[in-house]
Amino acid sequence: MNAVLKSAAPSYVRNTKLVDWVNQMAALTKPDRVVWCDGSQEENDRLLAEMCASGMLKKLNPAKRPNSYLALSDPNDVARVEERTFVCSETREAAGPMNNWVAPAEMRATMNRLFDGAMRGRTMYVVPFSMGPLGSHIAQIGVELTDSPYVVVSMRIMTRMGRAVYDVLGEEGYFVPCVHSVGLPLTPGQADVRWPCNNDEKWIVHFPETREIWSFGSGYGGNALLGKKCLALRIASVMARDEGWLAEHMLILGVTDPQGRKTYVTGAFPSACGKTNFAMLVPPRQGFEGWKVTTIGEDIAWIKPHADGKFYAINPEAGYFGVAPGTNYHTNPNCMTAVERDTIFTNVAETPDGDVWWEGMTDTPPSKLIDWQGKEWTPGCGRPAAHANSRFTVPATRCPSLDPQWDDPNGVPISAFLFGGRRSDTTPLVTEALDWDDGVYKAATMGSETTAAIAGKQGVVRRDPMAMIAFVGYNMGDYFRHWLKMGRTVSQPPRIFQVNWFRKNAQGKFVWPGFGDNMRVLRWVVERCAGTGRARSTALGFTPGYEDLHWEGLDFDAGQFETVSGIDHAKWQAELGMHDELFKKLEGFVPSELLDRRKGLAERLGT
Ligand code: OXD
Ligand code: MN
Repeated sequence: MNAVLKSAAPSYVRNTKLVDWVNQMAALTKPDRVVWCDGSQEENDRLLAEMCASGMLKKLNPAKRPNSYLALSDPNDVARVEERTFVCSETREAAGPMNNWVAPAEMRATMNRLFDGAMRGRTMYVVPFSMGPLGSHIAQIGVELTDSPYVVVSMRIMTRMGRAVYDVLGEEGYFVPCVHSVGLPLTPGQADVRWPCNNDEKWIVHFPETREIWSFGSGYGGNALLGKKCLALRIASVMARDEGWLAEHMLILGVTDPQGRKTYVTGAFPSACGKTNFAMLVPPRQGFEGWKVTTIGEDIAWIKPHADGKFYAINPEAGYFGVAPGTNYHTNPNCMTAVERDTIFTNVAETPDGDVWWEGMTDTPPSKLIDWQGKEWTPGCGRPAAHANSRFTVPATRCPSLDPQWDDPNGVPISAFLFGGRRSDTTPLVTEALDWDDGVYKAATMGSETTAAIAGKQGVVRRDPMAMIAFVGYNMGDYFRHWLKMGRTVSQPPRIFQVNWFRKNAQGKFVWPGFGDNMRVLRWVVERCAGTGRARSTALGFTPGYEDLHWEGLDFDAGQFETVSGIDHAKWQAELGMHDELFKKLEGFVPSELLDRRKGLAERLGT
């Protein structure tokens, strides 16, 4: 770690554009000092020790949870803030009706006002990172300037961060400039708070044409770790449109069958809909002997056409920033093993012996806890112990199911795209699209009940096209057009499947067991890709009959299967009405292919 009063860069930083930009930002934000991070162990240890001393982090009991830490955030800084997220393209039309838009000149004036002196009394850290394996032709370099040491240590887990990035960057290499401030400057002598943030002003701002990111006022991962949602999705989606690839909110997993054949599948699910669990799935013991699922990524996929006619995908991230509640040794044993050490927890509860706990970790909660707001907690006290969007941040290399090719700079070939919302009714367990355009229609019109990952009301069905409603950095209609086009750029596009693990019965109870049993659906997907899986033709597409899935080891009868798979025509009529509402919002931008698909679907449903 190289600390200087002014931002004189270490000699190994040879990119003059970067040095000039850091100087310019330091002049604007006026930190007490600038630290060029090298990503070393010593630097990390020092930052962790400093945060423990300041109270921002608590070291957990090393006998219970080695090398792990707990952060408790400000109660108002716990999730992504979509209504404060802006895509400031040159024109409103370029951002499209689904994004908040402010004219770039006006937003630049706002950013200059907010960031002027924003880092007073703090340190500006210069954090170089690569999204994707260092030097991969699919990877991108970013540099985040931040006044939060929590962001620095988290970026070290979530990205390939440190000195080696400068070697790839060289003298003239391109990087995405990302500026972040918690938005709480300190006057001389003013004591800091445990979790600095700004509850009056939160701004997550993107300039797609100049590929810049500015984030103000929040320390929460999705708002502050700028490599993740801001770069790897919003800015990357614009790069992908311009350069002919896809940047998607997708997990990537590998399925190995008993003959050792491997099939890679991606899955797009809205936030907090079980992507991490699905990516680390453990197949049922009975009936799935010799089947194995391996993990490449659990949140984001960058997908490029390859000379062999397939799409190849990488996970641009190097760690997992996952939702803790509900995770346990039954729902996700691989994840539980991963977070046994080397993990930063945020907003979970603390046990009296210095370990962590969250709702759903064990059937019976401990008799006493400190909750996510630092208050004493006992079972039945009426408050959740962990915040519903509490998180773990852990290196991918801790994951026992990590795929051997997870770090392959060329990525892995993808055979299927899965799209799945959280729907109590309407959407069947699994449907294979008729063809590429039908798959794009299904993905574009996907609906899901909202979760705690986003600030605001939960459980409301909203359209979440491709699970990207919050992450497309340009006009959603153009994004649909890009998807339609991309399917025609490869000779072997992946098959597209729509899935739903969340159907409920008349008593309001989930019917499908989910978790490891999702392997039953995944196996059918793999069999369909291999040309061996049987399917029936329905109004929606191709679906398995009860007898086409493998049921060994699960007591699930044909009646229950019908409850999760049936097509209720009245519900679908209402559903089509909601597709129309989405298309109305995007009026003038929806590709005609999708409008035709809407007509075809209505005809097949007889509505
Ligand atoms: C996430 C999200 O954190 O989608 O992955 O909110
Ligand atoms: Mn996500």
